[in-house]
Amino acid sequence: MKFCEQPILEKDISISGCVIVGARFDPGLLSPACIARSGIALPAGIQRARPVRQAEFIAGRLCAGKALEMLVGHASVPPQGADRAPQWPAAVCGSITHNRHRALAMVARREDYLAVGIDIETWLDDRQSDELAGEILTGSERMRLQQLPVEQRARLLTLTFSLKESLYKALYPLTGTPFYFEHAELSEWRANGQARLRLLCDLSEDFPAHSEIAGRFQPMEDDLLSYVAIPWQKPGACGRSGPCPR
Ligand SMILES: CC(C)(COP(=O)(O)OP(=O)(O)OC[C@H]1O[C@@H](n2cnc3c(N)ncnc32)[C@H](O)[C@@H]1OP(=O)(O)O)[C@@H](O)C(=O)NCCC(=O)NCCS
Repeated sequence: MKFCEQPILEKDISISGCVIVGARFDPGLLSPACIARSGIALPAGIQRARPVRQAEFIAGRLCAGKALEMLVGHASVPPQGADRAPQWPAAVCGSITHNRHRALAMVARREDYLAVGIDIETWLDDRQSDELAGEILTGSERMRLQQLPVEQRARLLTLTFSLKESLYKALYPLTGTPFYFEHAELSEWRANGQARLRLLCDLSEDFPAHSEIAGRFQPMEDDLLSYVAIPWQKPGACGRSGPCPR
């Protein structure tokens, strides 16, 4: 597949029971022949989309197919649902992400995880960070950001953005409730890549406001990768409200 590398297991990202597969791609090399060779049926909206969007879609699906093969022993390509979320096999939860040159897919068995979400972001620069802060941050996150030296703000904004996107991709398919950036807060993050997010609204009985959900992040060359994996566990079993982080 000329425009996209062979998807491979991301060995540096290890989370028990989850498979994360990634590939770099170059949208400029996508051709009708590549699309045909991929064997991936493009939904109508993607057929009409610009080549760069088609490339993202195919690269994400190639990663998903490989990730499913590694997890359950056979590759399949999750179709796009009406809400645009990928439709995974019944026994699997998963998530896809891409930026302009890299795609990743994360999958896990439902007997191990309720949901997973993954997100790759190109680091925002200072100008983008200033423009997006009002949309992405809650009032208290904004105040926290303002207290940081200017040169650190874009990094924290990128991190907050990415983790919230990962959270959304995990929780929307699980709860069926759309939510927005003001409905979750990054409550904690550490240099070792561990983070915690807090819901600020009720999404479902199992995910009420104030639920705390663990996330992880790590730089990937010029990008930032984040993910959320919610273990299968009876909510409340660890004495917290909502899901128990592993
Ligand atoms: C869906 C969304 C999270 C995608 O994130 P993104 O950073 O724009 O793009 P990414 O490349 O990381 O992810 C895109 C992939 O997410 C997946 N996706 C799309 N809609 C989804 C949904 N409702 N649930 C789960 N996954 C979804 C798809 O696989 C998509 O790729 P594809 O269209 O090629 O299949 C984002 O577009 C969105 O709608 N955000 C608004 C809601 C939100 O973020 N709330 C934040 C809550 S704190």
